[in-house]
Amino acid sequence: MTEDKITGTLIFAVFTAALSSFQFGYDIGVINAPQEIIISHYRHVLGIPLDDRKAINNYAVNSTEALPTVTYPGNLVPAGEEAMASAGLITMLWSLSVSSFAVGGMIASFFGGWLGDKLGRIKALMVANILSLAGALLMGFSKLGPSHILIIAGRSISGLYCGLISGLVPMYIGEIAPTTLRGALGTFHQLAIVTGILISQIVGLEFILGNHDLWHILLGLSAVRALLQFLLLFFCPESPRYLYITLEEEAKAKQSLKRLRGSDDVTKDINEMKKEKEEASSEQKVSIIQLFTNSSYRQPIIVSLMLHAAQQFSGINGIFYYSTSIFQTAGISKPVYATIGVGAINLVFTVFSVLLVEKAGRRSLFLIGMSGMFFCTIFMSLGLVLLDKFAWMSYVSMTAIFLFVSFFEIGPGPIPWFMVAEFFSQGPRPTALALAAFSNWFCNFLVALCFQYIADFCGPYVFFLFSGVVLAFIVFTFFKVPETKGKSFEEIAAEFRKKSGSARRPKAAVEMEFLGATETA
Ligand code: GLC
Repeated sequence: MTEDKITGTLIFAVFTAALSSFQFGYDIGVINAPQEIIISHYRHVLGIPLDDRKAINNYAVNSTEALPTVTYPGNLVPAGEEAMASAGLITMLWSLSVSSFAVGGMIASFFGGWLGDKLGRIKALMVANILSLAGALLMGFSKLGPSHILIIAGRSISGLYCGLISGLVPMYIGEIAPTTLRGALGTFHQLAIVTGILISQIVGLEFILGNHDLWHILLGLSAVRALLQFLLLFFCPESPRYLYITLEEEAKAKQSLKRLRGSDDVTKDINEMKKEKEEASSEQKVSIIQLFTNSSYRQPIIVSLMLHAAQQFSGINGIFYYSTSIFQTAGISKPVYATIGVGAINLVFTVFSVLLVEKAGRRSLFLIGMSGMFFCTIFMSLGLVLLDKFAWMSYVSMTAIFLFVSFFEIGPGPIPWFMVAEFFSQGPRPTALALAAFSNWFCNFLVALCFQYIADFCGPYVFFLFSGVVLAFIVFTFFKVPETKGKSFEEIAAEFRKKSGSARRPKAAVEMEFLGATETA
């Protein structure tokens, strides 16, 4: 039997698919650095005077364009209630510009698996690019029209794209990877996400694209990625599992496998798929309701939803969406560079987690990561609260943010994405994954929408709030989440029964299902 090996075609296919995950990360990070600039453009379009004379001067100095031609009513800075109302409107529009992305993601996360089955993985990824292109064009041309509306619409459509691919990409990569490389190649999804975040932060620098003249290009740049991926997808082999199990096209599946494995002998893969196919036909699909009503699935699905909620409610995307303004508040003189530092550390620690996860177990890494984040949120808040008294506190906040992100990527970042798949066997897995992705996007949306309001309301105490939330999730994880490393589905199911305090064995039919899955695991 031949050793699983990495071939050029396999790397090419993984790279091409991960271009979508890259887009996901790019969209998360891209609106961070140019926040002030885009907001000043919104004010311009809406005829709301810049409430800060310095901002007007900056505009004049930094922009090669003429100053806004809109005549503000009376060209006066509004006072009192009127000023408050326009500030409220701007905060609302900005929060929507950030969070509409997650609304799209939330809706589409349900349909990734369905589209992949309907069209095949490759065609689904191709078609999804229409959304990416449309979103990019709306944002790329947003300067020509009502920019706030075009950006909110563009980000919603990009969100739809990212919601689809957050199901499609892990599925395609998991299906083309040889068994022994499935874990390692699977992490490329998160790696590409964090790379996208970092690149968006770099090109968002003022001297590159994050300035008054070019910010719309920064937002529209994804069109190039969409076209590039669309072309490259023509050269990618379709998933052999899809061809064999879903379409029952054995000859085509073999052909695709030969390309991916770089060998004419693909019997090992075919035998494995045969087993999976038999199993799939003996297992019934499970509905969302059944996930909650069947006692064998209830605990695992609740834990899955909570893991994703913990990932998002830790406040991580508060950092990725808003770090530049957080650093500004913390008194850092070059906040955009600190933001890039966050992106770089994020990437480094994701690589670190890839190396650790098979050795140290999922539950322990998740708990270590969340505990580290808990202490960081306290230091982040202390840094902000005491900034008035000690100027060096800005460095405390900055270091705490860096460590916060590092702890996130060690465990809470990557683990929920693949741990859910380990909780469920073939039958309930697709539904459970869709629901878990929805939970992730829903919580992402809440943070994106509310963070600015909470930050305005709580001032420097904002991260104390996250300390409380993180602590609650640590307690939950400690009591309710089982370790899955090296365990079969049956053993994981038994762990869940222990944790829920029920020694009752599941119904025979369900047990058979777990056993069936265990054999092939
Ligand atoms: C995870 C999260 C995503 C976050 C990213 C940061 O992929 O799901 O929301 O932005 O990590 O690295």
